[in-house]
Amino acid sequence: MDIVPDRNTPVPQLIVQWAYTGIRLALSCAGVTVGFVTFFEVLIVLLRPDIVDKDNRARIVPTVELLDQYDFVVIGAGSAGAVLANRLTENKNWTILLLEAGGDERVISDLPVMTYNLVNTDMDWKFKTESSSAYCKGMVDNQCHWTRGKSLGGSSSLNYMLYVRGNRRDYDNWRDSGNPGWGYDDVLPYFKKAENMTIPGLRESPYHGTSGPLTVENPRYEHPMQGYFSNAMSEMGYHEVDVNGKTQTGFNRPQTTTRNGLRCSTSKAYLRSTADRRNLHISTNSLVHKILIDKTTKTAYGVEFVRENMRHIVRAKKEVILSAGAIQSPKLLMLSGIGPKDHLEEVGIKVIHDSPGVGQNLQDHIMIGGLTFLIDAPYNPSTTTLADVTDFVVKKEGHLYGTGFCEILAFVNTRYANSSIDYPDLELFLSSTAQNVNGELVTSVFGLRDDFYASLFSNIIDKEAYGVEPALIHPKSRGYIKLRGNNITEQPIIVPNYLDHPDDLDVLVEGIFFAYNLSQTSTMKKLNARPNSNTIPECAHLNFPSRDYWRCYVRFFTLSVYHSTSTCKMGPTDDKMAVVDARLRVHGVNSLRVVDASIMPTIVSGNTNAPTIMIAEKAAEFIKKDWNPIFSGGCKTSNVKAWENIFPTLQSYAHA
Ligand SMILES: Cc1cc2nc3c(=O)[nH]c(=O)nc-3n(C[C@H](O)[C@H](O)[C@H](O)COP(=O)(O)OP(=O)(O)OC[C@H]3O[C@@H](n4cnc5c(N)ncnc54)[C@H](O)[C@@H]3O)c2cc1C
Ligand SMILES: *[C@@H]1O[C@H](CO)[C@@H](O)[C@H](O)[C@H]1NC(C)=O
Ligand SMILES: *[C@@H]1O[C@H](CO)[C@@H](O)[C@H](O)[C@H]1NC(C)=O
Ligand SMILES: *[C@@H]1O[C@H](CO)[C@@H](O)[C@H](O)[C@H]1NC(C)=O
Ligand SMILES: *[C@@H]1O[C@H](CO)[C@@H](O)[C@H](O)[C@H]1NC(C)=O
Ligand SMILES: *[C@@H]1O[C@H](CO)[C@@H](O)[C@H](O)[C@H]1NC(C)=O
Repeated sequence: MDIVPDRNTPVPQLIVQWAYTGIRLALSCAGVTVGFVTFFEVLIVLLRPDIVDKDNRARIVPTVELLDQYDFVVIGAGSAGAVLANRLTENKNWTILLLEAGGDERVISDLPVMTYNLVNTDMDWKFKTESSSAYCKGMVDNQCHWTRGKSLGGSSSLNYMLYVRGNRRDYDNWRDSGNPGWGYDDVLPYFKKAENMTIPGLRESPYHGTSGPLTVENPRYEHPMQGYFSNAMSEMGYHEVDVNGKTQTGFNRPQTTTRNGLRCSTSKAYLRSTADRRNLHISTNSLVHKILIDKTTKTAYGVEFVRENMRHIVRAKKEVILSAGAIQSPKLLMLSGIGPKDHLEEVGIKVIHDSPGVGQNLQDHIMIGGLTFLIDAPYNPSTTTLADVTDFVVKKEGHLYGTGFCEILAFVNTRYANSSIDYPDLELFLSSTAQNVNGELVTSVFGLRDDFYASLFSNIIDKEAYGVEPALIHPKSRGYIKLRGNNITEQPIIVPNYLDHPDDLDVLVEGIFFAYNLSQTSTMKKLNARPNSNTIPECAHLNFPSRDYWRCYVRFFTLSVYHSTSTCKMGPTDDKMAVVDARLRVHGVNSLRVVDASIMPTIVSGNTNAPTIMIAEKAAEFIKKDWNPIFSGGCKTSNVKAWENIFPTLQSYAHA
């Protein structure tokens, strides 16, 4: 590479070239991942003020300014917590404290291409499941990696940014299992309220909103494989649709939570715009240890948290709202004395309220890793060149705006699905980058064993290929989360029980045959697509590529799609496994709600970020209504308006 800059090279390009040279030197001694990330961080700080976004970043309250009490204390600033903080502070009469264990998002989290690089950093909780002999067997110690966001924006700050809502039936099923107000027609307005859809043609759709804080786009960079995938899917008999619209079955170019091509986390969408609200205090690096609950009245009255090694107690005048996510919301409830009685006693916690469902009913989506199809095509695997970096930093374009995970997103029916209704059972991510590229990173992100990785890829490293990841969207297996002990700093026991129900394996394996058939379409034949024929030794006794071989394989290359949900499920009082009611109030405890992915009674048929944001939008409205006497009691807004005309002073009277 010629590193002597031309005399006429503009300054930004020069900086890029110098930095690039420096980093190449650094790489000879430092690890690749660290070098690459640092390099980008430096460049962004120097050259992309739009990403640094100095003037709009969320304002963090200094410790000395923390108050003794707030109207509401929200635990966790993730997909749900950020929404609540924003919506509740719309009422200027209320003060809100938002507590987040992590710090602000790092600038590199804006870059789609950097997503894998955030894993195992301080933005990740780095959870692992317990060892299993039934899944994740290709991973070190048979443990699946459960990446989870630890920063403002939570998991929305390191997720894959796919904007997917799931299926109408998911919500109708929630409603029909005893949760009035949660049917599809009830939740659609809240999806729309959150959304600013920018894709031309969809802005006019009755399924999309255009005035919400969360920007939805198509990815700025689209890989040439996208056209092939889309044609091949048509050959397979599927239509291009809006998977978030009328019909889910079919495929589309992904809709992503990005703004100007860069990640739009809930922190960017909901918190940066509140920087000037005096009634919102955001406290980062603040780990909540406990929710404080009066034992006799069973009323939550505050929280205990640690910031900079100092213990703080803050009171909540109205409510404590728990939005710590599907792993840590049940964990905090249990540490605070709410959970299955026997388990709490076993780890030495005094039971305040026996709630057998806390931590149970754990659901997640899994996908099959490693499916790689070699092609003869002029598309270089995504190694980053100086030209790519310059395109990104200076021209604001190019493949660093892409992720490689998903050029086309599809929802398909296996032979186990009822194809006469629109309720597909597999989600497919069609990727321009297969896992034979960036081996070191792939291995560390998923916790793969080196020998396992080598058995699949050693002779095809960096060869031209694409990937297909089929994901099971209606899992029947159920897992659980428990405490390891009475200590917040210990990781909880996570047992997802993947593939425990035999139907789950049957459906997933169909995904492999679908992917094979896709590679045999005339479109893919043009690229000479052919499956990677390397086998893993532990399954080599089974005929490759028989169904039995693949059944064995799936238990090794089992990947979480990171959609854990349902560990504090919503349901009516007569369902003793329900943790919260349909207004997300914890059963049996006053002044405490759970608002996040953990309340889903059953997991949705798609990715979980947009549904979690919807849940928080809806919860914010419950809370506003419940604390406004005028609006409580199920009054229609029109009635209230009429009242207000008759009694103009009623509102202020109610607040006196
Ligand atoms: C790697 C990855 C990729 C994903 N890809 C997609 C995708 O492409 N599309 C999609 O729709 N979904 C995706 N998801 C899932 C989606 O992002 C999550 O379901 C969603 O963000 C969950 O929101 P939440 O509010 O329930 O939890 P989170 O967003 O995880 O928020 C919980 C917050 O609480 C904080 N917290 C926890 N405990 C404490 C404590 N004790 N004290 C203080 N703070 C605490 C955490 O630090 C975190 O910020 C992905 C997830 C991951 C991890
Ligand atoms: C929605 O996005 C468009 C395009 O980026 C932008 O012009 C508009 O201001 C956004 N609307 C809101 C309400 O933020
Ligand atoms: C498929 O769905 C239709 C419509 O709900 C229903 O009538 C039919 O019985 C279902 N078929 C199967 C095999 O479940
Ligand atoms: C909790 O665990 C951490 C590390 O796992 C340890 O340092 C700490 O002493 C423990 N606290 C208690 C009260 O046991
Ligand atoms: C793949 O194609 C074969 C042969 O046409 C067909 O029998 C099979 O059902 C297809 N499988 C899937 C999952 O598409
Ligand atoms: C805030 O309080 C004032 C005075 O008590 C009252 O007039 C106003 O309606 C309240 N605002 C809201 C949004 O409740």
